[in-house]
Parts: sequence; structure tokens; C-alpha cells
Amino acid sequence: MNLKKSVRRSVGNFAPYVAGRDIESVKKEYGLKSVVKLASNENPLGAGMAAVEAVRKSAAGIFRYPDGDSALRRAAAKKLGIGPQNIVAGAGSDELIEIIAKTFFEPGDEIVVSKHAFIRYKMAAELMSAKAIVAPTSGLGHDLEAMAKAVTRRTKAVFIANPNNPTGTYNTRFEFERFMKNLKRRELSPILVVDEAYFEYAADFPDYPDASKYIPRYPNLVVLRTFSKIHGLAGLRLGIALCSREVASEMNRVRPPFNVSSAAQAAGIAALSDDKHVADSLALFKSGRDFIYRGLKSAGIKFLKTAGNFILIETGRLTGSEIFRALLKKGLIVRATDEYDLPKHFRVTVGLPSENKFFVREIKKIMGKESARSVASARTRRDSNK
Ligand SMILES: Cc1ncc(COP(=O)(O)O)c(C=O)c1O
Repeated sequence: MNLKKSVRRSVGNFAPYVAGRDIESVKKEYGLKSVVKLASNENPLGAGMAAVEAVRKSAAGIFRYPDGDSALRRAAAKKLGIGPQNIVAGAGSDELIEIIAKTFFEPGDEIVVSKHAFIRYKMAAELMSAKAIVAPTSGLGHDLEAMAKAVTRRTKAVFIANPNNPTGTYNTRFEFERFMKNLKRRELSPILVVDEAYFEYAADFPDYPDASKYIPRYPNLVVLRTFSKIHGLAGLRLGIALCSREVASEMNRVRPPFNVSSAAQAAGIAALSDDKHVADSLALFKSGRDFIYRGLKSAGIKFLKTAGNFILIETGRLTGSEIFRALLKKGLIVRATDEYDLPKHFRVTVGLPSENKFFVREIKKIMGKESARSVASARTRRDSNK
């Protein structure tokens, strides 16, 4: 049997998602004793103790199927000030993206995304034989006016990553409200997914909109939050969608039963009330971010200011892949961004102070010379023009 012929046409040429390199394989490949991973936007402090303890306690019950997810939804509802029926739980926001696609996308439907947006939206469209319409950016960030222009009667869904990974850019309350008004004026109401995976980091910016507040006014809005980032639970796989009851009940019919493990639910409930861990993580992140900003600036390396827990850095004359490989040899895993059509950038996650120091030292060695050379040659050109 020719297996290729049996594979659905829409997924036959599917490029699998490229995850960041793992520490053990890098150690083996380069014969290194220790490797630092700043590649997957994880919380360098790890999970909070309350979540870890909850997972430990849940171990005794893991022979049973998870007992529904109502306790998790109740805890999240209380924290977020919405109803439990306005919440759908998933194995990471990644699974929720896929559930949205399976629930709403028909073959041939259009979805609107921004260039350089988190790649899983496009993949979800491909999975369902829907077509992704890619709107141009402003700088490298989402241009919501361009996205609104791309929305037509054929548009089934719009995805806004706020902030976006890998650019770290965000859209303001003003931009978001103008976008919503534009759709309303044109009587268009596609499913509007606002992915707030980095909500806790971005919420620090006064003009950052909390999209969940708009759900009562826009019933087709779905806001995604994750426990993988500031809560440090990436390995457990837990995310929630906040939406109208109508959207939730449609998604719940598609959601696989028992999709969120009992350990993830227990950890999620504990994490929701661990404000100290969130505050500690945010404080550590901010000082690390500012340390890296200073280091890059002092070496003349350009970067985008971030609203996430990672920084997108320009690579000058080198490519992102070259920098990725040069750092890998030193025992540092970052993320090349070729798949985002950003071959002259790479992304680094803000880590622990020692990890950030290591990164700044090594990147200065690789790029500092490069940028010093280009600054020098620009100066020479200027001098010779005098
Ligand atoms: C913008 C964005 N959305 C969603 C996800 C998926 O997160 P998870 O499936 O771990 O909740 C990520 C992960 O990096 C992300 O950056």
C-alpha cells in the first residue's frame, strides 16, 4: 500500500512544528557538561511550590480518568471574574487552537493572520483545508488596520497574537477597539481569537488591552491564556479559552473527553492562587530583560522591545541560523526564526541572571565584533564623504 496516497491531501505536505532543541541532545552532540536553554519561552524559575505539591498529591489518583474539569474552571472563573461556562480547558493553548479549527473551519474557509504571527494558527487552518490570508505588518508587529482590511464575508476567523511570538510586539487598546469597531461597522463577525499566552508580562504596559473584557460585547471573541509561561507548567500542558457560553458549548462538543490530565488540573488550580510566584517570576523577568537590553545596546546590537518573556534580536550581517549554531557550540540554545520568515533575526528567552549573563557575554563575542566592524565602516564612509 502506498501510505502517502492514504494521507489526507491537506496534511500530505505539512511541515511539522519545529520545537526548540532539547538540552540532552545538545550535550551529547557537542560533548558539553552543561547546556542553557533559552529557546522555548519557559519560566526560568520553574513552577511554583504550590503547583508542584498539588501534582505530587494528585499522583495517588492517576489510575482514574480525570474527574471533569469543573473545579479548574470554577477556580479560573473566580480569578478572572467570568462564569465557569465561559471557559474551555485544553492541553495547552495549542490544543485549543486546534479545537477552534476543528469546530469552525470548513475546507476553503479563509482565516486572517499577520505576517510573522505565531505559526500554529496557519497550521490549524491547513489541517482543516482552510486558507490563511496573511496581512502585512507594521514594523514587524500586527497591523490591525491591514488585518481588518483583509477580513471579508469569506473570513471564518481572525487570529491576533497579543503579544506576538516571536516578535514580542503588542497591539494597544486603541488599536484593538478600532479593529473591533471596523468589523462592527461592516457587519462582519468572524471568530476572533486573541491569543494572550504572555498576558501577565504584557499587562504591565498601561495601554495593553485585556481582551477578555470585550467578550460580552463581541460574542464571537475567544481569548486564549496558558499556564505554560508565567505559571511554569509547560510540561503539564494546560491552557484555557475564555469566550461566550455559545462558543464554549460548540467547542466542548469537539473537545476530546479527558483532554486535561488530573495532574494538570490540580497544578492549574494551585497556580491560580499563587500570586507570589507570579510576582516573583515577573520581577525576575524584568530585571533579566533590562540586563539583556543593556548588554545588547552596549554592543550596538539591535533588538525589538518586548511585551513577552523573550527578545527578538537582529543579526546584522550573520543569519539567525548561523548565530543559533554558534551559540549551540557554546552550550546555549536559542531559537532561529526562519520559519517565521525572519532569517535575519533570532529569539532568546529571558532566563536566570547567570543564564542572561552567559548569553550576553557569548552574543557580544559573536555579534559585537560584527556590529563594531559595521559601525567602524559606516564611520569611515561618513569621514570620506566630508
Ligand atoms: C503566542 C503563543 N500562543 C500559544 C502558545 C502555545 O502554548 P501552550 O500550548 O504551551 O499553552 C505559545 C507557545 O509558545 C505561544 O507563544
